[in-house]
Amino acid sequence: MSQLEKPIPMSSKRVTNLSGQANVPGDKSISHRSLILGALSIGKTKINGLLEGQDVIDTAKAMSSFGALVEKHKNGEWTVDGFGVGGFAEPKKVIDCGNSGTGVRLIMGAMSTSNITATFTGDASLNKRPMARITEPLNLFGARTYGRKNGQLPITVVGSKAPIPITYHTPVASAQIKSAILFAGLNSPGTTKVIEKEKTRDHTERMLKAFGANITSEQTTAGHIIKLDGYPELNAQEIIVPRDPSSAAFPVCAALITEGSDILVPNIGLNPTRAGLFETLKEMNADITFENENFQGGELMADIRARFSPNMIGVDVPPKRAASMIDEYPILSVVAAFAKGTTMMRGVRELRVKESDRIDAMAKGLKSNGLKIEEGEDWWSVEGREIDGVNGGGFCQTFLDHRIAMSFLVLGMASKHELVIDDSRPVNTSFPVFKSLMSQIGANFSILKT
Ligand code: S3P
Repeated sequence: MSQLEKPIPMSSKRVTNLSGQANVPGDKSISHRSLILGALSIGKTKINGLLEGQDVIDTAKAMSSFGALVEKHKNGEWTVDGFGVGGFAEPKKVIDCGNSGTGVRLIMGAMSTSNITATFTGDASLNKRPMARITEPLNLFGARTYGRKNGQLPITVVGSKAPIPITYHTPVASAQIKSAILFAGLNSPGTTKVIEKEKTRDHTERMLKAFGANITSEQTTAGHIIKLDGYPELNAQEIIVPRDPSSAAFPVCAALITEGSDILVPNIGLNPTRAGLFETLKEMNADITFENENFQGGELMADIRARFSPNMIGVDVPPKRAASMIDEYPILSVVAAFAKGTTMMRGVRELRVKESDRIDAMAKGLKSNGLKIEEGEDWWSVEGREIDGVNGGGFCQTFLDHRIAMSFLVLGMASKHELVIDDSRPVNTSFPVFKSLMSQIGANFSILKT
């Protein structure tokens, strides 16, 4: 998204009777990893169902800059002709990862143990986010990293000539830190070990195994321990990307709060490390069912049916569940507004360093729609107004954050008065077809002239 383009405000009006099928796009986490692992393999990796959001497109461009041949074909399939572990070419230009924390952190990890230098940057949001959590472990592998004050982007990474494998306890629950270290470990001798207190999404581990790496993980009293042997030969794969549970969350939650709704969201990845939102919604008495459960490419999938749920109750979401629904707290807070009683969300400090400070962004926008929010450094709560009780009519700032933008548009679908967001452009980073897909099931969104 160019900084010179103007924001595109959008309104959302109250609707009822959402119906039909919402075919949400491919999983963002798996899409990034498919492109990166395709590049780190020998042969041609085929990817079907790749998310074509801006974040993933930026990762595809980055992999081309490092020497992979990344192509989109007429039938929608993407292919990556890889350069193999350690085969990175030095890019001629700065790598711009746009809005994507996942993209920049995983790619920095992957190249940091090759004998090349690369400089990374991003948009105004990404360039404010913490990167020391990545550069610190990469420096232990022997890489050198030069960033701005507080370790922010732009950052130049001088890859290690003689990498040393590491054992690392991740200081915060983050699949991005874990994945950056594992990707760095691929081009290091010996065994790289990551220990996390709470298990985070495990797509990297599952996919590395499928590509041929020797990787194990075990749950111990000390935490979740992952061990990876260096210098594997990774072989090209055929990947079908499951549909994204984090994107499914928007139509599912919209159906729960809008009168008379009954929708189907097919073929959603339900990896347990990603399914915390659905567990929480069930505790709130949401009418959600899973149909046609099956396994594809090692991932659990199901169709999700969601129906209007007028009797939801506020719940206490425990800190232990945070990693499995970290991207879903904004939309959960919207559902909480339509429940009876207060919903308390604890252990969520990480929300403050996402694409925006998501607690602050949601609190501001929810308050402008008549809701009562309380917050501390690592918790926040929403006082529910029951199913028909949200006033709406607010103006919500989105802070270059796709999930904030989509959450408020869903809030407007069940509020008494039309709600407006300042900028709908960020939606494109993870869910480019959001407006058309939501309109198809019954949403009433309009682009407003500035
Ligand atoms: C992601 C991990 C999470 C999540 C992000 C995607 C990934 O970030 O918020 O949207 O694909 O590994 P953290 O690892 O920082 O928690």
